[in-house]
Amino acid sequence: MYVCLCTGVTDGKIRDAIYEGCCSYKEVRLATGVASQCGKCACLAKEVVRETLMELQTAQAAIPYPAEFTAA
Ligand code: FES
Repeated sequence: MYVCLCTGVTDGKIRDAIYEGCCSYKEVRLATGVASQCGKCACLAKEVVRETLMELQTAQAAIPYPAEFTAA
């Protein structure tokens, strides 16, 4: 779905930017250009960033260490 009509940024592009290393809305904005013109999409863009970061945190918390894992 298009999040930003001015720059053609989709929710997928925002998620990809986060998967590639962006850790905040500011970083996503710099990487994708979302909300860099009229700004009307900023709330939705922030929501997609927040949801994606929360999904990643939840997924990382759910990864169990192997039983034989020992700290070096
Ligand atoms: S809709 Fe995103 S900057 Fe205008």
